[in-house]
Amino acid sequence: MELQRIVIVGASSGIGAALAVEMARPGRSLGLVARRATELHDIATAVTARGAKAVVRTCDAVDEAAVAECWHTLLGELGGCDALVYSSGVMTEVGPREFAIAKDRHIIEVNVIGAMAWLNLGAAHMADQGRGVLCGIGSVAGDRGRRQAPAYGASKAALHTYLESLRNRLSVLGVQVVTVKPGPVRTPMLGARKLPLTVSAEVAARRISRAIARGEHTVYVHWGYRWIMAIVRCIPSIVFRRLAI
Ligand SMILES: NC(=O)c1ccc[n+]([C@@H]2O[C@H](COP(=O)([O-])OP(=O)(O)OC[C@H]3O[C@@H](n4cnc5c(N)ncnc54)[C@H](OP(=O)(O)O)[C@@H]3O)[C@@H](O)[C@H]2O)c1
Repeated sequence: MELQRIVIVGASSGIGAALAVEMARPGRSLGLVARRATELHDIATAVTARGAKAVVRTCDAVDEAAVAECWHTLLGELGGCDALVYSSGVMTEVGPREFAIAKDRHIIEVNVIGAMAWLNLGAAHMADQGRGVLCGIGSVAGDRGRRQAPAYGASKAALHTYLESLRNRLSVLGVQVVTVKPGPVRTPMLGARKLPLTVSAEVAARRISRAIARGEHTVYVHWGYRWIMAIVRCIPSIVFRRLAI
């Protein structure tokens, strides 16, 4: 499928920024969305240097009315949308004895409600035109309930299930839905943590761009994680709760 008009939400940093640059090529128009204008304009410069058109829009994903307004403005400026990627996300640190609803709520609002706000608009548009690609950036963290990040893991599990449902509703209408489950990727979100099989944002972006072009269903950015997570998913709960992961 020819993808000429692409919207990336969360394009100011990390995976979303690298994906914008990776997908930029002559003849394409990219809508770049996040809250920070300066960072978005820097990415827009890199996108236009590769021969694509870039349109920058600031928008907070938790503001439903602003999301709808931003989407409709972008549709007008790009002349439509062939692919929508939701890469925005937050992974707020929580201490081992911390059970904080304000932090948890924010994670769910950005990672789940924000994703639904954007992807629902994309789904309606693409269902009407009978083609297109929707892509959500989940995480291997959504495959099991780990100790360190309860709300983050839950948010990604919710996103994965939501994306699967969208795929089941939309595939009959000609719309592809891609679920990306990265392991560790070197971005500001990962910070200084050193984890095995970490990939650069550029490597992740190349893999995600290929998955979008092919309309793949579920992508583990590093191939090793497909096998690691197949094993991790099988670990009995009574064993898993003893592991410090
Ligand atoms: N890095 C990893 O190891 C890793 C692993 C698995 C999954 N992921 C997932 O990959 C996605 C991208 O993460 P990253 O590593 O690229 O992190 P990042 O560099 O911190 O980027 C996060 C992006 O989310 C945007 N964002 C945050 N809050 C927002 C809000 N309220 N409204 C709109 N945009 C918002 C940020 O833009 P503004 O601050 O400008 O709004 C930024 O563009 C996330 O969904 C993350 O959960 C990352």
